[in-house]
Amino acid sequence: MKHRISCAAWSRDCVIMAKICLWTYLFTLIRVSCLMLGATADSDCSEDNLPIEGGHYTLSKGVKVGSVLVYHCPSGYYSPVRSRRCLGNGKWDPLPKRSRPTRPGLQCKLVRCPYPLGFQHGSVSPLQDKYYVNDTTTYECFSDYKLSGSETRVCNANGKWSGSTPICSRNSDHCPDPGVPAGTRRTGNEFYIGDKVAYRCEDALTLIGSNERTCKESGEWTGQEPECYYEYTYDTPVEIAEVFSKSIQTTLTEDVNKQQGKKINLDKDGNLHIYIALDASDSIDINIFNQSRDVIKQLIEKISDYEVSPKYDIVVFATKVTKIVDITDYYYKRTAKELFEVIEDLDRFDYDKIRDNAGTNIAEAFHHIYHQMSLMKTRAELENSIEFENSSHIIIMFTDGEANMGGKPDGKINQIKDIILGNKDNSRTLEIYMFGVGEIDDMQKADLNSYATKKDKEKHVFYVDDMKKLHETFDLMLDESTSVGLCGLHRDYRYKDASPPNPPNPMKQPWLVKISVTHENGLSSNCLGSLITPRWVLTAAHCFKFGDLSEKIYITLSSGEIAVVKKFTLHKEFNISSKKDKGVSESYDYDVALIQLNETIKVSDKKRPICIPCTKETSAALKLVGSDDTCERHEKILLNKDHVQAIFLSKERKMKHALIKQGMHQKKSCFEMAINANGVSPKAKYTDVVTDIFLCTGGIDPQTDDAACKGESGGALFLERNSRSIQVGVISWGVQDICTGVSEKSSATHRDYHISLFKVQVQQFLKDNVKDGVTFLN
Ligand SMILES: *[C@@H]1O[C@H](CO)[C@@H](O)[C@H](O)[C@H]1NC(C)=O
Ligand SMILES: *[C@@H]1O[C@H](CO)[C@@H](O)[C@H](O)[C@H]1NC(C)=O
Ligand SMILES: *[C@@H]1O[C@H](CO)[C@@H](O)[C@H](O)[C@H]1NC(C)=O
Ligand SMILES: *[C@@H]1O[C@H](CO)[C@@H](O)[C@H](O)[C@H]1NC(C)=O
Ligand SMILES: *[C@@H]1O[C@H](CO)[C@@H](O)[C@H](O)[C@H]1NC(C)=O
Repeated sequence: MKHRISCAAWSRDCVIMAKICLWTYLFTLIRVSCLMLGATADSDCSEDNLPIEGGHYTLSKGVKVGSVLVYHCPSGYYSPVRSRRCLGNGKWDPLPKRSRPTRPGLQCKLVRCPYPLGFQHGSVSPLQDKYYVNDTTTYECFSDYKLSGSETRVCNANGKWSGSTPICSRNSDHCPDPGVPAGTRRTGNEFYIGDKVAYRCEDALTLIGSNERTCKESGEWTGQEPECYYEYTYDTPVEIAEVFSKSIQTTLTEDVNKQQGKKINLDKDGNLHIYIALDASDSIDINIFNQSRDVIKQLIEKISDYEVSPKYDIVVFATKVTKIVDITDYYYKRTAKELFEVIEDLDRFDYDKIRDNAGTNIAEAFHHIYHQMSLMKTRAELENSIEFENSSHIIIMFTDGEANMGGKPDGKINQIKDIILGNKDNSRTLEIYMFGVGEIDDMQKADLNSYATKKDKEKHVFYVDDMKKLHETFDLMLDESTSVGLCGLHRDYRYKDASPPNPPNPMKQPWLVKISVTHENGLSSNCLGSLITPRWVLTAAHCFKFGDLSEKIYITLSSGEIAVVKKFTLHKEFNISSKKDKGVSESYDYDVALIQLNETIKVSDKKRPICIPCTKETSAALKLVGSDDTCERHEKILLNKDHVQAIFLSKERKMKHALIKQGMHQKKSCFEMAINANGVSPKAKYTDVVTDIFLCTGGIDPQTDDAACKGESGGALFLERNSRSIQVGVISWGVQDICTGVSEKSSATHRDYHISLFKVQVQQFLKDNVKDGVTFLN
């Protein structure tokens, strides 16, 4: 065992003092007075008696004073003691017990699930005293009763039952039977309007959710179903992603609707205020801090996907609060900070700036938020601005829950509720989300639950055992099956092996449409197209011939469904024979067409529009909300290089890659190859064959591009930005058909030409026809 004595100044006095301290180690009274004299006697702790059978432990600072020891058990097991802290003088808190032959030392224990026998009007099998991980239970109702919820449930490794609470009921009352969730006892058996039911958890488990619910006139219960948590119970990323994203989505989409409904300009007056507070007390080391910072970055990026531009206030807190992003800065800058500025502020923040991080002062964090809100409110009033009116406020706090100073934050939270919700003449909203991260005991779980807001059918408090899991959570969070309005969205899973059940692999190009047109002469053309709104498909004009009828156009959506066509429109300038006199037998200028579907499709992860430039939706995808989003800006951002990497699809949805030649010289030499196309007379100039309306790909320099093949005309030429697909061109024609069925590679002489969506004539065509589902920039 090593002993280290540290003194501020290594003086003779100090040595003596330290020796005295050591000598008097056992005499607490004297030790205290010794410490009061100012000498620190913080010798290290020892690793005796620490090991856990069936698991292992990690130390935050070795055996030094202040080091935090955390026990780890395999999945499905937990450690009865979760952590210890080295207090110095060889002392751990809590003290490890010496193992004796008669008493086993610390062991990892099998996870249990809450007792399910509160189940009413039916039977549970098998009957057991206790239910452990992987135990299966089945539920059956007595005759006359009907089962809702899960018929079989398995005890999961996180201490929760799979599926949902089984309930046997006759549904004869006004509200449905709210059930008796596993581990709870319920009082109240009448379910008419105004009736209340109350819950508590047995066995000293912690109740998360609502402990009382009231039957509403609407036939629903207030609050959310209670759950009973053991100390080791936590939420899995999949669970949180689902529940948290649903809650926050509701708020964010409500906010968008609210603002659009009132015609408040979202860009300038975005009145969504988001406060994020991150615990940086000493149990949070720099690694965890860095991880939490990434999590916050990820979260605000995800939020920006909802096409809102919130104002942010971001702090870290320990004993005191340290600002990272200050919401009151918005007074001076007048516009919402752009996302990248918020990210920059976060990146620039220096962990060492957190001076005194001995404590966890949750009350101080809430006090800071209250203070900021008061400033925002006063300022808005002074300036007669409606900024604070009807604004939405979201507080998201990450903490290890160990509030060891500053007292309980309840008073501060009430002040916050007062300032936001106190005045009934407005429609402000407040949501407080609490994320408990790491080692959290029962008391702390209950506290965090009480700080979180309770909204009907939503959950605002979550527990994860590890910051890394939060990372996964936010990655899974954007549930694209419900996020309507997010054009071009597809998910790329960075966390492929996310905890069970593995998320389904969503469709990569949910906007791809196959088009088949049967002409008057009985022959047909096959083309591709792209869904650009839930009602409109963009494709090439040359897929159609004179005399074609809407009834003879067959559209197959990405989901495999067939869509009925209402009408189709070609660009009025499209005329394939318009340049015959110039020696060009076929001219593809203005080769664009729009098809209107008979019905608006329901957006899902299998069918969703692609983003098209010069729209609000694409500004949001490019995260340009709050800045000068113009069509020129889109073009500048998207086609900003001499060679722009672009993608298009084969009929089999295979991704093909090509470089758009954008540099002046590159573009010119790409265009010059058009002269080699069939049907172009030797006397024709290349500028007669291709005009500036085209984008050009193909060739073998600087890379061998993929070539567009027959049947791929009308498809989208698109770019990928921020996990979104943005269409920049419509595939029109190529110099030769070089696809052999074996190779679809371009050659030195081959080029493909695509109608650019940035061109005024194309934009006008889109604007004139597509009147809903997308908002064009002016
Ligand atoms: C539970 O079952 C799973 C899958 O069969 C298995 O991998 C796991 O080890 C089991 N857990 C325990 C604690 O027995
Ligand atoms: C934490 O992040 C900062 C800033 O990005 C970086 O400089 C530092 O090396 C990181 N520290 C650790 C331990 O990862
Ligand atoms: C705020 O909400 C109240 C109540 O819903 C409404 O009467 C008022 O007009 C709203 N104010 C603004 C600026 O939208
Ligand atoms: C297409 O262009 C040719 C040649 O300029 C012209 O004769 C013809 O009328 C045009 N067709 C249409 C439908 O405008
Ligand atoms: C087109 O939509 C209308 C109303 O939305 C519907 O009544 C009609 O049956 C649809 N036509 C076809 C051919 O599906």
